[in-house]
Amino acid sequence: MDVGPGLPSPPDAPTPERVLAGLDTALFRQLVYLPETGSTNDVVRAEARAGAPEGLVVIADRQTAGRGRRGRAWDSPAGLGLWFSVLLRPTVPPRQAPLLALMAAAAVRDAVAATAGVPVLVKWPNDVVSQDGRKLSGILVEMEADGDFIRHCVVGIGVNVNQALEDFPPEVRETATSVGLLAGGPVARVPLLQAILAGLEARYRRVLADGFGAVLDEVRRHSATLGRDVQVVETGGQAWDGRAVAILDDGALLVEPAGGGEARRVYAADVSIRETNAPTREANASIRPPGGGRATSR
Ligand code: BTN
Repeated sequence: MDVGPGLPSPPDAPTPERVLAGLDTALFRQLVYLPETGSTNDVVRAEARAGAPEGLVVIADRQTAGRGRRGRAWDSPAGLGLWFSVLLRPTVPPRQAPLLALMAAAAVRDAVAATAGVPVLVKWPNDVVSQDGRKLSGILVEMEADGDFIRHCVVGIGVNVNQALEDFPPEVRETATSVGLLAGGPVARVPLLQAILAGLEARYRRVLADGFGAVLDEVRRHSATLGRDVQVVETGGQAWDGRAVAILDDGALLVEPAGGGEARRVYAADVSIRETNAPTREANASIRPPGGGRATSR
């Protein structure tokens, strides 16, 4: 991979030398730092297709075409966040690939709590939010498979680390947050990235050995979604209200429709948390639809 001559690194840039210096993992040993790229998911996917082994990590200081779920754009300003993707080649069935987003969210939640001392929550299916529902991290898993065999998964992770409120565009200031805002001061990116990678490796090894049970238990324990009134927006755009009552062993969110009737399993959807019975709210921080404005689901 041509990483070019490079721009000068900002003072706390998560360069391979700095990150590897305190990283006690066996899987994530090949790290690449790019001062600027389109999307780290695209860089890792190209490397995966060229045969790179699992464990490759590509980190960008700034992304010019960062993206989130459903084709939304993900703002990735220089110097303020962690924008990175890891390459995994898990020996699990392709239908379980979305669970890797919950696994990564659990690792981010734990790392933020441990390194910055702020209690944050996992919002099904791919976010980490503050206690009051502001989004600080999003995860995008992109998979390529051959029938029942996963060729690779790219796990893209975005964490708002040191944005002040005014760094967010006005239309998401109500719904976005950063680790630094929650901690009450700047947070060093390198130790946070080290903790995320270590946590990711530990959970991934457990998944390969024993399945997703422990990860799902952890997500249930730290869930922003369970017990909340939610609005479910299906992939086709259909929206309905209900209460999130369980996260099932296959990763589905079980939602009781507000109008009554049998609880429904939700596998792929946007879920907004209503404020009727919760202090939390939907927060698509740093996300805007392609071609213009930013999207929040509120
Ligand atoms: C979401 O909330 O919808 C997911 C956002 C994922 C953003 C990360 S930043 C690093 C990686 N590269 C991308 O283009 N996207 C992911």
